[in-house]
Order: sequence, then structure tokens, then C-alpha cells
Amino acid sequence: MFSGFMNWVDARFPASKLFREHLSEYYAPKNFNFWYFFGSLALLVLVLQIVTGIFLTMNYKPDAALAFASVEYIMRDVEWGWLIRYMHSTGASAFFVVVYLHMFRGLMYGSFKQPRELVWIFGMLIYLVLMGEAFMGYLLPWGQMSYWGAQVIISLFGAIPFIGPDLALWIRGDFVIADATLNRFFAFHVIALPIVLLGLVAAHIIALHEVGSNNPDGIDIKKLKDENGIPLDGIPFHPYYTVKDLVGVIVFLFIFSLVLFYLPEMGGLFLEAPNFIPADPLKTPEHIAPVWYFTPYYAILRAIPSIGGSAFPGVLAMGLSIVFLFLLPWLDRSPVRSIRYRGPYFKIALTIFVISFLFLGYLGTQSSSDITFGISNTLHSQIFTGLYFAFFIFMPVYTKFDKDKVVPERVTD
Ligand code: HEM
Repeated sequence: MFSGFMNWVDARFPASKLFREHLSEYYAPKNFNFWYFFGSLALLVLVLQIVTGIFLTMNYKPDAALAFASVEYIMRDVEWGWLIRYMHSTGASAFFVVVYLHMFRGLMYGSFKQPRELVWIFGMLIYLVLMGEAFMGYLLPWGQMSYWGAQVIISLFGAIPFIGPDLALWIRGDFVIADATLNRFFAFHVIALPIVLLGLVAAHIIALHEVGSNNPDGIDIKKLKDENGIPLDGIPFHPYYTVKDLVGVIVFLFIFSLVLFYLPEMGGLFLEAPNFIPADPLKTPEHIAPVWYFTPYYAILRAIPSIGGSAFPGVLAMGLSIVFLFLLPWLDRSPVRSIRYRGPYFKIALTIFVISFLFLGYLGTQSSSDITFGISNTLHSQIFTGLYFAFFIFMPVYTKFDKDKVVPERVTD
């Protein structure tokens, strides 16, 4: 009966063909390791966010006079509302944890390199849209940090020469952040950006399946094939990796549940304390800081001094810090992909880069006038911003002259 049904469907829609091409006959390298869990986990979190988002929207009110109370209503009165809300707010942080680890895997194994440049570019576009999505979502509870965080970020657009003030006004839809801003952020957060995100994720995976997955050895498995044209080092994605990814999903859900039930606000890191106070345009919180996943860029912004009272140099540096990530496939001149066969220069550079990114993330949560290890946070931010950029600027040189090792013919484990 089932095959009869499938024949009927296949004559009208290529269901079996798609299943074969993308799952049962998609040959993935047989040496995927821990780091290869995060793509499927990102998909899982995306679905979680969309489903919990739909249920939140059923009780949330996108109105400056009602938004804060509607979130409290969800937390206290709606059946299971607290769970849905915490799944969504913790899910946002989980999304960035997963995506940052996914990107780090790409850096380690050179997955951004030829022929996967477009996989990387689509990934970077996803990252940008995800940041927009998180930023707009954070305004919706209309708490103090929602309001003042948005105030800071939108005013950054105002620092752009010539068009800045008009641009900031256009984004807000009012002279201050107000009901009009909340309404449009709601529209973007619940419909416009999720559609773009889904489209980009589809493009990301189509591009990946066109060229084939990279692997921890960075070897092109398509070079060596058996008499049937199947890569010698490849195994069908389904059932091998569907089962393996399921293990990742279970472990992830276990950790996610621990955070969700015992530490949903992560001590103010996932949901900041001032956001439990309704937005007050007349009262600025003592210390405004974005959520943790934005803080490395916030530290870069604050590291660069203003010129003539304009914050534009900082805004420019922040923009460049993202632009450089887009350019990675063309900055890296090494013939070797995986860190396993790279020389010492790349390994040192990547280590310094990761430390800089993490430390900038820490500095972004602190007041810039504070002192850490006897040095002002501003000077710290300047040093680590310099190191962040050095990773990219000198990459064409150190990757070209690095003492790379010989890459084996076949995958090693
Ligand atoms: C919603 C967010 C994202 C989803 C759902 C997603 C999904 C996936 C999936 C399912 C894979 C294949 C499995 C794997 O290799 O882990 C993959 C591979 C890849 N992704 Fe993403 N991704 C996302 C964001 C990103 C971002 C932000 C980047 C980088 C800027 C990126 C770069 C890559 C690269 C380079 C590969 C190929 C890896 C390899 O073959 O070694 N992805 N992605």
C-alpha cells in the first residue's frame, strides 16, 4: 500500500528523488566528529524558536501600553506560558551557542574554503539575519533593557555621516522609540525575518549538498570513488548520520532542559535583570549592555574613540569586524583546509583570535571605566580589537608562508 501511495506521489512530486539525493544517497564523509553535530542542532533550535514563537504570539500584545503586561500574563496566567516563554528566550541564547560552535568548526576545518565559499556566505547572511531577529525580539517584552538597548543600537545608525539622523528616524518611525517602533519590530520579528531565515537556510543546505560536506581532515572525498561512483570514504547520510545526529539531539535537549528548568535567566546573561522593570523613557538604567551574544561587537564599538563627538569610527569598526568574516574564503591562502595539517602560524593565529573574541565578549558585559587585571577595560578592548583584526589582515601572509603538513589521500579515522 505504501509503495503504491509513494508511486502516486512520485508521479506528481519528486518526494523519493529528494529523499535519495539529500539523505539516503547523499554520501557524507565517514569521519564526522563532535563538531558536526551543530548544523543539525541549529536546524532543531530554528524549529523550536518558530514553534514556541507561534504560541507566544497567541497571547502577546504588540502595543507599547500592553506589551510588558502581556508577557507577565504569559508567565503567570497562561497555561504552560512560562515554559513556552522560557523555551523561546533560552532558545535564543542556545541558538547563538550552537551557531558560534558551528562557525568555529568551519574555521577549524577550513569549511569556508573553495569550493564551499557560498555555503559560508549563506551562513554569514544567516548570522546577520539572526542578529537582527534577536535584536528585534528583545524589544518586544518592552522592559527597561529592551527599550534602552534598542535606543543605543538605533542611535548607532544615527552616527553614520549625512544619512544617519534620517536613517535612525526612519528605523524608529518616531522621534523616540515608541509604539510605532514596537509594531514594526514585531512585524519583522514574527514574519519578515523568519521567512528570510528559512530561505537562507534552504540555500545554505542546497549549496552544501551541491559541493558535498567537508570533514575533520579537510579531504575532498569525491576524488576517490568505487566502480559505482560512490566515494570510498563516504557513507549514506541516512541512516548513518540521521542516527548519529539523533544522539546529538538527545544530549542537547538534556543540557537545554537543565538550563531551561534551573537557570532560565542564566544569572542575567540570557534575560537581564532591568528587563523585569517596564520600559521607562524618562529613566536610563545605570548600566546598559546588550545580551551576551552581541557583547564582542559592543566591546569593539566602545574600544574605538569618537571623533568630534561622533561614534562613527566605532560603528565602522563594528561593521568591518563582520565584513572580514565574509571575506575569509579569499583571505586564506593556504592549500590546506583542516587545522590537523596546518602549520603553526595558523594554529597560533586562530587561538589568539578565539581568546580575543571571548575576552571582548566578557569586556562587553562590563563597564568600560572598570579595571581588569590592573588595566582599564577600554585599553583591554583596544588591545583585543587589534588582535581580532590582525587575524584577518595578516591572514593572506601567515597562511601563505605557513609550514603546512602533507595531507593524506584518505580520511584518517
Ligand atoms: C540557522 C542557522 C544555521 C543552520 C540551520 C545551519 C545548518 C547547517 C547544516 C544542517 C549543515 C550540514 C551539517 C554540518 O556540517 O554540521 C551546515 C554546514 C555548514 N554551515 Fe551551517 N547552518 C547555520 C548557520 C551557519 C553559519 C552562521 C555559518 C557560518 C558563517 C555556517 C557555515 C557552514 C559551513 C561552512 C558548513 C559546511 C561545513 C562542512 O562541510 O564542514 N552555517 N549548516
